[in-house]
Amino acid sequence: MLQLVYISTAVPSVGENDLSKILARSRTNNRHDELTGFLLFNGQRFLQALEGPDAHVESTIARIATDPRHRALVTLSRRAIDAREFGEWAMASFGLRDRDGAAAIARVDALTTKASPNVRAQFTSYARLRAA
Ligand SMILES: Cc1cc2nc3c(=O)[nH]c(=O)nc-3n(C[C@H](O)[C@H](O)[C@H](O)COP(=O)(O)O)c2cc1C
Repeated sequence: MLQLVYISTAVPSVGENDLSKILARSRTNNRHDELTGFLLFNGQRFLQALEGPDAHVESTIARIATDPRHRALVTLSRRAIDAREFGEWAMASFGLRDRDGAAAIARVDALTTKASPNVRAQFTSYARLRAA
């Protein structure tokens, strides 16, 4: 299996409505493609982990990369994994700006307990930084 983590910048017009659409589509597609992961959005940037069968991760990230709702996608890590690190759910996601900082941090901590130390640090430090 392959795990990929990237960060990208939302185009200025992206709002909660776009996020809902992205999540709905991702849940359906990712369940079908046996992908799990985590999407964080803070109103400005996306941080996403995607993991599952190599070919499905590759085809999905290729689609995501051409999505006009964000730009400047930078891959933070790409690694082979033996077991999923983001659980059984298709995609756990929320916009950090919608929650109080402490709750968001606690939730990110809880959802990344199985992730490798580096990947976990990417998510928890992002949450601490952005939720402030
Ligand atoms: C930040 C971001 C994350 C996304 N994550 C996913 C994802 O995990 N899975 C997915 O299928 N599409 C994701 N999308 C949507 C894809 O770019 C694309 O719109 C969608 O996969 C097209 O699906 P369709 O061919 O079923 O219409 C994401 C888009 C953005 C902007």
